[in-house]
Amino acid sequence: MNLTYYGHACFSVALGRHTLLFDPFISPNPLASGVDIQCIAADYILVSHGHGDHLADAAAIAKRTGATVIAPFEVAQWLGKQGAPKIHPINHGSCQFDFGRLSLVAAVHSSSLPDGSYGGNPGGFVVESEAGNFYYSGDTALTFDMKLIAERTRLAFAALCIGGNFTMDVDDAIHSAKFVACENIVGVHYDTFPPIKIDHEKAREKFHAAGLRLHLLKIGTSQKF
Ligand code: NI
Ligand code: MN
Repeated sequence: MNLTYYGHACFSVALGRHTLLFDPFISPNPLASGVDIQCIAADYILVSHGHGDHLADAAAIAKRTGATVIAPFEVAQWLGKQGAPKIHPINHGSCQFDFGRLSLVAAVHSSSLPDGSYGGNPGGFVVESEAGNFYYSGDTALTFDMKLIAERTRLAFAALCIGGNFTMDVDDAIHSAKFVACENIVGVHYDTFPPIKIDHEKAREKFHAAGLRLHLLKIGTSQKF
């Protein structure tokens, strides 16, 4: 699995011949100004909830690539109205796709859409595929539900929000990594806005002291898992 980080909570994972793009928020993010959204590949665009910092570029990338948007029901319907040509609405639970099995799992957060309409419930994603398994927390607080993931899925990596204020902070994410029984953590949802700025060195040290590896990828770079 090859993960490419596009800033904030946006990343793609190439699984065999499929590329999954998560929570595209690139053009409004000054930290990601070096990323050309015209060059981002996607067969599927997965959106965790309705907040603008997770879907700003979703409809535009879906139109350009023809990717299928997979999102909680209300968010998928809304992105369809914004012009996403193919949508696959889901809700909490599991579903089989050609890239593998996808579960929309619990996230403790909120989910209104940019125009104020109802966004349903927010979620995180577990992907189980032949190339490997991973978890993306979406925006969430630390929650005991994360323990369920470790009960049946061996994760190669987990992308966890670590910026605090709106989501888990570094200490919560360390706890979450233990709940999901995963040593390889990709940090997301940090530094983009003043309230979620973190000290990278301190964060890495804290994870290291807990026997975990925190990967803070430079925007636009990739890592294999
Ligand atoms: Ni959010
Ligand atoms: Mn967010």
